[in-house]
Amino acid sequence: MRFLAVLPALLAATASLASLVPGSHGWPAQKPNIIFILTDDQDVKLNSLDYMPLLKKHMVDQGTSFTRHYCTVSVCCPSRASMWTGLHAHNTNVTHVNPIHGGYYKFMKQGFNDKYLPIWLQQGGYKTYYSGKFLNVHNITNYNNPFPAGWTGSDFLLEPYTYQYNMPGSTKNQAPPQVYNGTYNTNFVFASAFEFLDEAAADPNGSPFFLTINPIAPHFEAPAPFPNGGLGPPVSDTPYKDMFKDLIAPRTPNFNPDVPSGGGWVRNLPKLTDSYIATNDEWYRLRLRSLQSVDAKIDELFSRLDALDLLDNTYVIYSSDNGFHIGNHRLPPGKLCPYEEDVNVPFIVRGPGVACGRVADVVTSHVDLAPTVLKLAGLPLRDEFDGTPIPVTAPDLDWANVAGRKREVTLAEMWIQGISSVSEVTGQILNTASLNTTYKSLRLVGSNYNLFYGIWCNNDHELYDMQKDPYQMSNLFPAGFNTTGDKTAIIPGLCASAQTVASRIDALMFILKTCKGAACRNPWQALLGSHAPVASLKDALDPKYDRFFNSVPRVQFAKCTPAQFLEFERPLFEEWKQNNATQAIGPQPSLAAIYKRCKN
Ligand SMILES: *[C@@H]1O[C@H](CO)[C@@H](O)[C@H](O)[C@H]1NC(C)=O
Ligand SMILES: *[C@@H]1O[C@H](CO)[C@@H](O)[C@H](O)[C@H]1NC(C)=O
Ligand SMILES: *[C@@H]1O[C@H](CO)[C@@H](O)[C@H](O)[C@H]1NC(C)=O
Ligand SMILES: *[C@@H]1O[C@H](CO)[C@@H](O)[C@H](O)[C@H]1NC(C)=O
Ligand SMILES: *[C@@H]1O[C@H](CO)[C@@H](O)[C@H](O)[C@H]1NC(C)=O
Ligand SMILES: *[C@@H]1O[C@H](CO)[C@@H](O)[C@H](O)[C@H]1NC(C)=O
Repeated sequence: MRFLAVLPALLAATASLASLVPGSHGWPAQKPNIIFILTDDQDVKLNSLDYMPLLKKHMVDQGTSFTRHYCTVSVCCPSRASMWTGLHAHNTNVTHVNPIHGGYYKFMKQGFNDKYLPIWLQQGGYKTYYSGKFLNVHNITNYNNPFPAGWTGSDFLLEPYTYQYNMPGSTKNQAPPQVYNGTYNTNFVFASAFEFLDEAAADPNGSPFFLTINPIAPHFEAPAPFPNGGLGPPVSDTPYKDMFKDLIAPRTPNFNPDVPSGGGWVRNLPKLTDSYIATNDEWYRLRLRSLQSVDAKIDELFSRLDALDLLDNTYVIYSSDNGFHIGNHRLPPGKLCPYEEDVNVPFIVRGPGVACGRVADVVTSHVDLAPTVLKLAGLPLRDEFDGTPIPVTAPDLDWANVAGRKREVTLAEMWIQGISSVSEVTGQILNTASLNTTYKSLRLVGSNYNLFYGIWCNNDHELYDMQKDPYQMSNLFPAGFNTTGDKTAIIPGLCASAQTVASRIDALMFILKTCKGAACRNPWQALLGSHAPVASLKDALDPKYDRFFNSVPRVQFAKCTPAQFLEFERPLFEEWKQNNATQAIGPQPSLAAIYKRCKN
C-alpha cells in the first residue's frame, strides 16, 4: 500500500518507468485522475468541517489538510476566476459577481475561455468534466454565448435556477436548459458527476480524467429571479431538517464585541440585537444541514471510486470558493471581508503519495490551484501563473517544510460596491449595497510570526499579530507610521516594532497589489533585487534595509472605486521601479535603527 502510494510521485519525474506499473485502467500505467470538489461559501473558522463526519472519514483522515489555505477574493465569481486561471484578481480583473465588472460575461470578455485549466488539461490528454455551478450570472440566456470551452462533458447549473435548492436548472452537454423542479440541488449535481465518472472510467482508451463537482451548499438560497427576488438562508434536504437543534454560531472573542472592531465600514456596525443573533444562529444551523447532503454524496463518491478500482490512481481535492462570517466583528451573515473567517477556506487532498491524517501549515492560496492540478497531471506550468504548485504529496511537503523554502504570504483583494447583502432578509441591520468594500490584505506566516495587514479604500490600515490576537481585535497599526508613529509596540515573534514591521509589509503590499507571474511568486526578490538575500519578512527586517524601506512609497487609495481603476491606486510599483527605485536600492547601515534584537 505504502509502496504503491509513493510510486506516482516518482512516475511524474520518470516517465519511462510508467510502462512498468499497472494503472487503474489496465496496462500500462496512466497519469492520475483528479477530482476537484468545490463547495460554495464554506467556512473553516465557523467549524463547518467538524460537522461533516464522512468528509473526515474519507478525506481528512485519509489525506492532508492545508489549514492555512486562503482565497484570493472572498466572493464567488472573482475567486473562481482566480482558481481556474492561476491569476490574482488584479490580473483577471474579474472583480465582481455581476456584469460589467464580473460574472460569466467578464470572464469571457477577458479571453479566459481560451486560457484556463480545462483547456490545458485537454491539451495534455485529459478528459474533463464539469458538474454544478460555474460562475455567477451564467444563465439561461447566455449559456451558449459562448459555451464554456474545454469540457469533454458538462452539466452547468444556470441562473435563475443555480441557487434554488429544490429547483435546479442546467445545460447538460450544451443542450438547451432544463429545469428539474422537486430535485434537491446537491443530489442533482452529484448525480451528473457520477454519470461522468462512470463514463470516464469506461473510456476505452483509458485517458486520465479531471472531474470537478461544484455543489452550491452552503450558499444562501436565491429564489427566481436573482438577484432581485430576494435572498434566503440555505435549504436542507428532508432527512437533515431537524439536525443540530441546539447548535449556535461560535461565540468567539470577535463575535458581536462590545467595542467596534475591524476597519472600513465594518468599524461602524452597531451591536447585533439578541433577536437578530437568534436568526443568525438558525442561519448557522441551516448551513450545516445543507452540507449534510454534500457529506453523504462524498461517501457515495468514495464507494464508487472503490468499486471502479480508481482509488489508487485518483487525487481528490476538496475546497470552497470563499469563507463566511456570522456575527464576527458584528457582521451579519456574509462574506466579502478580509478577515480570517472569510478568507481562510478548506483545502484537503487525498491521493497517491499524500500523507494520511496529516495537517499541513504551509501557506497556500487559490491562485495555486491551477498550478497544483497541472503538476499532479505531470503537465508544464505556465510563466504567467501568479501561484505555484501546492506541495500535496508527503515528499513534496517535507521538502517545502524546510525553513527558508516556505511560502509566507497570500494576497486578498476586493473591489465591490453595490452588492446585495444577505442581511436584507434577516435583519435590515445594514444594506451593504451603498458601501465600499474595496481593500487589499495580506496574510503573512513565518517561522515565528503570523500577521494580517489590510488597507481599506478609505485608507484605514489594520495590522494584527495573529499569534496573540487570532480574532483580529487589537489593531497594532502605528498611527502615522510613515512619519512619526508609535515606535514602541513590539511584535514579539519578530522582536521588532510595529512601525518597522509595517514599513516592510507595506512595501510587500506595494509590489503584490499589481504583481504579475514571477514577482507574485517571489516578491521580496522582485522588490529588493536578486543581489539582496531576502526571502522572508524576517530577512527584510535587517536594519541595513531601513533606508530602502523608508524610501518605498506607502500604499494608499485615492478614492473608493467599484472596480479596478489603477489611476486611483497610485503609486504603482512598476512605475516607481522604473523611475525612482534605482537610487533607493542598496543596503545601507541604519543610524537610528528601530529594530530590536531578541533577548532570547
Ligand atoms: C478592469 O475592468 C474595468 C471594466 O470592468 C476597466 O474599466 C478597468 O480599466 C480594468 N482595469 C484594469 C487594471 O485593467
Ligand atoms: C443573463 O445574463 C446576461 C448578462 O450576461 C443578461 O443580459 C441577461 O438578461 C441574463 N438573463 C437572465 C434570464 O437573467
Ligand atoms: C414546482 O413544484 C411544486 C410542487 O410540486 C409546485 O407547487 C410548483 O408550482 C412547481 N414550480 C414550477 C415553477 O413548476
Ligand atoms: C504617510 O501617510 C499618510 C497617511 O496615511 C499619507 O497621507 C501620506 O501621503 C504618507 N506619506 C508618504 C511619504 O507616503
Ligand atoms: C464610497 O466611496 C466613494 C468614493 O471614495 C465616496 O464618495 C462615498 O461616499 C463612499 N460611500 C460610502 C457609503 O462610504
Ligand atoms: C518618482 O520620481 C519623480 C521624478 O523624479 C517624482 O516626481 C515622483 O514623485 C517620484 N515618485 C515616487 C513614488 O517617489
